[in-house]
Amino acid sequence: MAADDRANGPLPKLRIRGLKKAFDQNVVLDGVDLDIQAGDNLVLLGASGSGKSVLLKCILGLMSPDAGSILVDGREVRDLTSEERQQLMRKTGVLFQNGALFDSLTVWQNVAFGLMHGNGISAKRAREVAIEKLAAVGLGADVADLYPAALSGGMQKRVALARAIAADPEILFLDDPTAGLDPILTTIIDQFILRSLEALGATALTITQNVQSARRIADRIAVLHGGRIIWEGPVDEVDRTGNPHVNEIVRPAHAAKRIEQGAGELPRSDGPPR
Ligand SMILES: Nc1ncnc2c1ncn2[C@@H]1O[C@H](COP(=O)(O)OP(=O)(O)OP(=O)(O)O)[C@@H](O)[C@H]1O
Ligand SMILES: [Mg+2]
Repeated sequence: MAADDRANGPLPKLRIRGLKKAFDQNVVLDGVDLDIQAGDNLVLLGASGSGKSVLLKCILGLMSPDAGSILVDGREVRDLTSEERQQLMRKTGVLFQNGALFDSLTVWQNVAFGLMHGNGISAKRAREVAIEKLAAVGLGADVADLYPAALSGGMQKRVALARAIAADPEILFLDDPTAGLDPILTTIIDQFILRSLEALGATALTITQNVQSARRIADRIAVLHGGRIIWEGPVDEVDRTGNPHVNEIVRPAHAAKRIEQGAGELPRSDGPPR
């Protein structure tokens, strides 16, 4: 280990420093600092409209930040050559908010999309891998040739998860993987997420507004509020932060009661109600 590493701890898989992003007058990210160590499973919590998806899009290079640094394995992402960026994407799995399956492709083609286009494996092998990954999220081979429109919302989420894990990624990003599902389906998907993470040993960043899911999935939790990470730590410490903004997010029923009694402010939310 180099002297620098000893001084600053191990090199994180993902290091974000001073990340800023505004849309005209709307300052969304205002200096985000976040480290995720290799193999860690971190859940990012934040109110609707707090900038969680914007942060993910900046990490993935789908949006350009106004300022700041994003390092993966110690390398600045914006300085990667297009080939290096492709290599990084090959070891990265993503589940986009709302699943975003391709309507015109069958389930197995959706799951295998990255494998066939990024990793250049044969269609026959890609289909076999897709069926393995569908099994890993509790779906049988009988759904492989259906189109997404024929599946229930919960099944579509599972297919999206299968697609995210299809290439055995080192880094997994899941943006609101259980949005819109009822509590029972949410619990089921959470269990598949946990199992997948265990099997992959991947570094994971899961975004959610669902505190129960966060408690089930996370090793560590980070809370985004006012454009910054206002708290980050082990999941079992999230109730003892003493930070009222963290409490509003991790104890929504408690916060709602205080608001009813006129003792608190509404949590900040710029997005649509859920
Ligand atoms: N392309 C864009 N152009 C302009 N404003 C945008 C754009 N994308 C996001 N925003 C704004 O950035 C803010 C944060 O949006 P974002 O989608 O990151 O929220 P979020 O935390 O993911 O919310 P949710 O939990 O509802 O998904 C919102 O005010 C949104 O309107
Ligand atoms: Mg979002």
